[in-house]
Amino acid sequence: MNRIHPISAVDADVTITDPLRHLVACHDRIEEHLQILERVIPLLRSDSEPKRREARESLEKALAFLDAMGHLHTQDEEESVFPRLLAASGEDRSVVTELTTMLESQHREKEAVFEKLAATVDAFPAAPAPPSPEQAGRFEGLVSNLVDLYRVHIMVENQRLISLAQDHLKQAELGKMLQEFLARRSA
Ligand SMILES: [Fe+2]
Ligand SMILES: [Fe+2]
Repeated sequence: MNRIHPISAVDADVTITDPLRHLVACHDRIEEHLQILERVIPLLRSDSEPKRREARESLEKALAFLDAMGHLHTQDEEESVFPRLLAASGEDRSVVTELTTMLESQHREKEAVFEKLAATVDAFPAAPAPPSPEQAGRFEGLVSNLVDLYRVHIMVENQRLISLAQDHLKQAELGKMLQEFLARRSA
């Protein structure tokens, strides 16, 4: 798959002033796009050609967003947040090590499912032709798999990662994280 990564546009309407709040805001936007994937499932093989066209457009946009945002957001976490939190975690170090190891392995799992999903959609016939029943079934299964992985992951990050980061990261470290988030978006 070779989608365009509109990195600078992906979260253009999100003001980044607090890196931890930014992570949670990104989670909310990811969730919104997961819901689009779920919503298009019954519409891909609709009898109505305009509905099929509309569903395919929404699907392409949601996948492009999740691809670009997924990549950027994972970099924010793995390169800016996890190493700083590990370094600052003190007596919570083993808890943070266990948590970040689990989160990184969930990132790889989510990426593998996303790649399969994108390849499945790339193999669909050009819109407005509907995907075959087999393709639609495979799509539905992969969406369900991706959504399940992401929702658990986001819940754990919102509940545990963010609170550990609030407990351990000082203003100077948060400021450096913010600079890195911004630099990634201006690259
Ligand atoms: Fe994550
Ligand atoms: Fe996250």
